[in-house]
Amino acid sequence: MDQQNHLSARLVVDDDFEVGAVQDRLFGSFVEHLGRCVYTGIYEPGHPTADESGFRQDVIDLVRELGVTTVRYPGGNFVSGYRWEDGIGPKDERPHRLDLAWHSTETNEFGLHEMAAWLAATGSNELMEAVNLGTRGLEEALDLLEYANVPEGTELSEQRRANGAEKPFGIRMWCLGNEMDGPWQLGHKSAEDYGKLAASVAAGMRQIDPTVELVVCGSSSHDMPTFGAWEQTVLEKTYENVDFISCHAYYQPQRNDDGTRDMASFLASGVDMDGFIKDVAAIIDATKARLKSEHDVFISFDEWNVWYQGEEPSKVPEGIDNWPVAPHLLEDVYSAADAVVFGDLLITLLKNADRVHAACFAQLVNVIAPIMTEPGGPAWRQTTFYPFSATARLAKGGTALEPKLASDPVCTSRYGEVDGINAVAIRCADGTLAVFATNRSLKDSCEFEIKVPGTVCAVEANTLHDDDLFAANTLQDQERVVPHTNDTATLDAASGTIRITLPPVSWTALHVR
Ligand code: AHR
Repeated sequence: MDQQNHLSARLVVDDDFEVGAVQDRLFGSFVEHLGRCVYTGIYEPGHPTADESGFRQDVIDLVRELGVTTVRYPGGNFVSGYRWEDGIGPKDERPHRLDLAWHSTETNEFGLHEMAAWLAATGSNELMEAVNLGTRGLEEALDLLEYANVPEGTELSEQRRANGAEKPFGIRMWCLGNEMDGPWQLGHKSAEDYGKLAASVAAGMRQIDPTVELVVCGSSSHDMPTFGAWEQTVLEKTYENVDFISCHAYYQPQRNDDGTRDMASFLASGVDMDGFIKDVAAIIDATKARLKSEHDVFISFDEWNVWYQGEEPSKVPEGIDNWPVAPHLLEDVYSAADAVVFGDLLITLLKNADRVHAACFAQLVNVIAPIMTEPGGPAWRQTTFYPFSATARLAKGGTALEPKLASDPVCTSRYGEVDGINAVAIRCADGTLAVFATNRSLKDSCEFEIKVPGTVCAVEANTLHDDDLFAANTLQDQERVVPHTNDTATLDAASGTIRITLPPVSWTALHVR
């Protein structure tokens, strides 16, 4: 029988040492035309809760509760074969097309106008639009920008108005393609070729609208063989004309030699994400120095999540006569352990708030998502919903403080010894304090002490933990895993010390008033 021990960890919160403001865009998400994210996800005409536009209100309510800000759209791998014009104008005239990325049929019932209207309905404030630099290039990107952002008086802006959008969409943030370093990407390019194309598209887009904020593609993962060299080449060519470089990362437990899953390393996935951010930040700084530039480029971590790649739910359809509409794809069912890793990744993004100015977890509904739906039936929250909604609610508008954290280590085969506890403190927009923490240990609980400044009168703590690491929320059991009040939290007001027990494999949010 495993011996249960205790870890200990201490966090000192000091308002004098800030990492940086937490940008609203850190709480972004991603809607791709993939599987059932759009169709029977956010859009399902005929669903009992759908409005006259076909938007599911049950999903909109959950999106609001989740606290998502920016939404990246329409892909993803999908965008690299997408013709944006297919998704505008009368719906019954829109073409059906092959979607090569996901071996599906795209009906184009949902396009740019529908996305803008759906975002307005959710109260999310921003659309982050991606242009196709796979099968397309400069001209089509400029056309889309003119259609979207020019107020009136040109062929494309008038076409938009005729299609029902009198006012421009005013899209600020644009992705210059998607994962162009990936050999799987339609129109995949070398860093040299992509860098040249992205530089010309960025310059052209700025000629139309100098206020756009542009995201150039970085690496599809920290493990890509071209990682580092890709960033260096692409930034060298585009630096002055872009505002962000992207990072993408998906994590899953790898198999040990005996077929079991390496959960210890999986729980420490934040270590890899942190290294990825620091590496990219170093390349940004080196490029800035070499170019003697005054301009700053930030990181847009615009795809991140747990994703069981290669497993059954991610197998794409096959066959020349098999191109289904909105098939069940990438519908991973998340466990309690997955939610802890998800929360840990969010803590890692907050700890790097000075460099990461935008982030989108991928994706929003049904496709590796915190919200699941049944066609014609209910919508429910996956385990990953909870760390996100609590963090967004408390940290949005706040300031990340420098993490002065000392923790006992845990051992992992992939990363060696790592901090058993990962934590970040946020000075919230209303002056209260939030602390988010994960216990990465598989078997040991942790006595966690937090030293806070000023007068403290109350602390609320909520912990997500399940004795069964693999417990999940499903259609049949939608609230199997939810956060619970952590009654072990105590407060010594005189010394400003909070003590709390964090169970193994757990995520906790503390709100200190
Ligand atoms: O989010 C799923 C896919 O992951 C996206 O389409 C692609 O950009 C990434 O590889």
